[in-house]
Amino acid sequence: MDRTMTYAVIAGSGSFLPERVVSNDALAAELAERGIETSDQWIVERTGIRQRHLAERGVTTSALATQAARHALEDAGVTAADVDLIIVATSTPDFVFPSTACLVQAEIGAKGAAAFDVQAVCSGFVYALTTADSFVRAGRSKCALVIGAEVFSRILDWNDRGTCVLFGDGAGAVVLKASDEPGIIAAQLNADGSQTHILCAAGNVAYGEVTGDPFLRMDGQAVFKQAVTVLDKSARKVCEDAGIALSDVDWLIPHQANVRILNFLARKLDMPLERVIVTVDTHANTSAASVPLALDAARRDGRVKAGHTVLLQGVGGGFTWGSVLAKM
Ligand code: UT7
Repeated sequence: MDRTMTYAVIAGSGSFLPERVVSNDALAAELAERGIETSDQWIVERTGIRQRHLAERGVTTSALATQAARHALEDAGVTAADVDLIIVATSTPDFVFPSTACLVQAEIGAKGAAAFDVQAVCSGFVYALTTADSFVRAGRSKCALVIGAEVFSRILDWNDRGTCVLFGDGAGAVVLKASDEPGIIAAQLNADGSQTHILCAAGNVAYGEVTGDPFLRMDGQAVFKQAVTVLDKSARKVCEDAGIALSDVDWLIPHQANVRILNFLARKLDMPLERVIVTVDTHANTSAASVPLALDAARRDGRVKAGHTVLLQGVGGGFTWGSVLAKM
């Protein structure tokens, strides 16, 4: 084994959003037809969301993930044959099994690569990236594809205005390659399973039927408070572990749930808003896809550059949260 290959670097990124864009006004008009009252003003004031991409019926998580993966491979200058590990973070998999990662593996033609899903809801990408980083650092992978992909529109109760206006569909991906220089500098993951009830989709398929509640349910205010608290703590911890001052982080890329959460967090961390990547306005909350979508957008528009230090953060159902600090 080559002992110099100790780190994992993000060698490329890619994303994919369904074509159909639904503005707040269009969504409000659709909901009004069913007697549900909402408005662009409420959604923008409370969340910062202006539109979301929604997948057509029949478009699956694996289809979105495959497109994002192809873009990331191209960006990294590698082929599917180079990939030896695929991890998909999703809470809306195509099937109970096989994993969405196996479906992506077959689609892109990365035959033989290890493939599995990670289920940590909106923290999923940060969990998956940390897992892939561990594989690379242990010498078990040289080229990993890490994807966050969701069709959350499938698990929304479109009669619940408190949740259905908040989410969108999409996928983002990165290629992680072994390198003798960092790369991912530090990571930390946490969960508090006693908080399951504040954000869950507590249904299952059993005995040929859906049992329990098939829809996402959320205590918005409880999640909001928890999110700001844990993201603040986690950011400080991961920087402390890495021996890096928060002021040396070039870009904060947190899970995109609500622009108010991002503003609170930035204030707590004393991070100027110009250094926070925001995509929730155009993508809404895409759960596990939100962080790689935001990272890819900021790389492609030239804000995140080689040599920059980025702090990626996830938070969501479980309750789960975590941070990855990486040099690009
Ligand atoms: O991805 C996982 C992480 N998820 C999150 O981080 C979400 C965190 N939570 C939030 O972002 C916010 O709590 C929400 C955006 C979900 C809600 O914002 P809020 O400021 O906490 O509003 P609220 O739930 O306290 O509701 C305020 C009012 C209520 O009316 P009353 O009781 O004051 O008359 C709601 O019924 O707003 C009403 N409301 C709406 N009105 C128009 C709730 N949803 C809507 C809506 N349109 N879509």
